[in-house]
Amino acid sequence: MNLKDYIDIIEDFPTEGISFKDITKLAANNEAFDYTIEELKKELEKEEIEYIIGPEARGFLFGSAVAYAMGVGFIPVRKEGKLPGEVISYTYKKEYGEDRLEIKKNAFKEGAKVAIVDDLLATGGTVKAATDLLKSMGADVRALAFVIELTELGGRELNKDVDIISLVKYP
Ligand code: PRP
Repeated sequence: MNLKDYIDIIEDFPTEGISFKDITKLAANNEAFDYTIEELKKELEKEEIEYIIGPEARGFLFGSAVAYAMGVGFIPVRKEGKLPGEVISYTYKKEYGEDRLEIKKNAFKEGAKVAIVDDLLATGGTVKAATDLLKSMGADVRALAFVIELTELGGRELNKDVDIISLVKYP
């Protein structure tokens, strides 16, 4: 199956000059979505993963489905102020300004083997921040898995210490 058939390219979204990769059609098509989840699962099964971590928001969509398929737990990493109770926060620099990710305190035991699943690897800043956050909590981050990789934005180089899996690449 060619997953690119199910990914629409929307020019100038969300801002001018950005060529947005839209996975809406892929998620709505049972065969394409199932294929995507099975391919991610196949790669991640090579590791002994205990939890899939999904960054908000599209990481919830793919991450929870992969976790369910693998029979492991799912833990969300959310944007600031969304999670109730005690959280661990991680502030990181973006091209303009700062952003903050949060995860529930005690979400997993120290040494837990985890993989991060998201729809897209672009600059890699989001997944790098999530990896740093997880490592600061004692996680063993075994793999980073994406549906789409934008190969010219340096995300792979920024995250070169961890195994990276991607199903579809765009220059
Ligand atoms: C997108 C995408 C990744 C991230 C990739 O999420 O889903 O999480 O950006 O970009 P990066 O590699 O340059 O960090 P976004 O922040 O748009 O959030 P959303 O899923 O809530 O729309």
